[in-house]
This record gives sequence, structure tokens and C-alpha cells, in this order.
Amino acid sequence: MDLFEYQAKQLFAEYGVPVPQGKVASTVAEARAIADEFAAAGKPRVVVKAQVKTGGRGKAGGVKVAEGPEDAEAKAEQILGMDIKGHTVHRVLVEEASDIAEEYYFSFLLDRANRNFLSICSKEGGMEIEEVAETNPDAVAKISIDALKGAPADVAAEIVKAGNLPEAAAAAPRRSSPSCGTPSWARTPPSRR
Ligand SMILES: Nc1ncnc2c1ncn2[C@@H]1O[C@H](COP(=O)(O)OP(=O)(O)O)[C@@H](O)[C@H]1O
Ligand SMILES: [Mg+2]
Repeated sequence: MDLFEYQAKQLFAEYGVPVPQGKVASTVAEARAIADEFAAAGKPRVVVKAQVKTGGRGKAGGVKVAEGPEDAEAKAEQILGMDIKGHTVHRVLVEEASDIAEEYYFSFLLDRANRNFLSICSKEGGMEIEEVAETNPDAVAKISIDALKGAPADVAAEIVKAGNLPEAAAAAPRRSSPSCGTPSWARTPPSRR
């Protein structure tokens, strides 16, 4: 799996996982038009985000908050064409700005060495998780996931606890998805806009 953030967010949205609204642009004019749409909808504050397949984009200056369409245009101008760790920015995601109280890290990955899946969870999100793992390893929980069992509610609760996330995270309601349980590649693709 090798996705851009905007593609991953589209997949999440398909499965009912809440994501900020946003659209992708490959030119400054397109970015401006998207920011104009947000402003017209009463959400002038947007974030312009470099779409490259590497982490640490924020630190590199590839993620910038804009206070309105004009600012978004200027930020897109700065970010498009930027080089981040050897990746040229060809696209930016323009999405609504969120009020962030806390940032967590959470992932599932393939653990080839153990022929299993692994979930990594940390309350210390927002910065490079590799760095947190080095400087504060106790803050990064690693839970092995049985490939046949998956991550039902009890395993999810275990992950939340190990990662020190607030209990509310474990109690979060499951969102119903029309295709719950069936991977997207096994279904008829949804119509693309
Ligand atoms: N939609 C958003 N609203 C507000 N702030 C955001 C938004 N998206 C990202 N940010 C801020 O920018 C930072 C970097 O973005 P992130 O998606 O974590 O990229 P990276 O991890 O590659 O730096 C985040 O930690 C957050 O503080
Ligand atoms: Mg981040």
C-alpha cells in the first residue's frame, strides 16, 4: 500500500471514518478555487498540504494554515514545486482547518518478521513517530494483531489502553458502513465524482 494522504482520506471516508473535507489541486489556480469554495461555505480557514509519500511534511514547511483564499493561493504557490526529502510536490490537498486539541498516532502494519499484523498506537502524535520511538519508547505501544481474529472491539480497547489514549476513544461509536467487512477491492467500486 502506497498512498498519498488525499487517497487514504478518500478511502477512510468511504468506510465512514470521519475525515476533514478537502480537495486536491495541482495548480495554484485550482488551490485558490478550492479555497474560494470553502470561504463561500463559511469556512475560510484552510490548510494547504503537500502531497508527497513521506512524513515530516509539516517540519519541512509543506503544511501551512491559510486564513482565507488569498492566503491559500500564496501558500499553494510556496508549496507546489517544493522538494521534501527528495520528493517534488506536484499536488496539494486543500482541506478545512480543524481546531486541534490533541494529536494521536495510530496504525496497522504488516509485520513480516512475525508473519502477523502489528498495531502501533501513541498519545504522542503530531511529530515523527520514529523520533518518539527513539526518544520516548514507552510512549509508543506495539500490539500484535492476530491475522485471523483481526481487531474486534476487545482488541481495539486493548490498543487504546496500551497507547494511553483517553477512554472515550475506546467507547467511540462504531460508524456503520454499507460495506462493513468487505474489502473495497472485493466490491463494486463506488461511483467517483
Ligand atoms: N486539517 C488540519 N487542520 C489544522 N491543522 C492541521 C491540519 N492538517 C494538519 N495540520 C497541522 O499540521 C501538522 C502537520 O500535518 P501532518 O498531516 O501531521 O503532516 P506530517 O506528519 O507529514 O508533518 C499537524 O501535526 C497539524 O498540527
Ligand atoms: Mg503528522
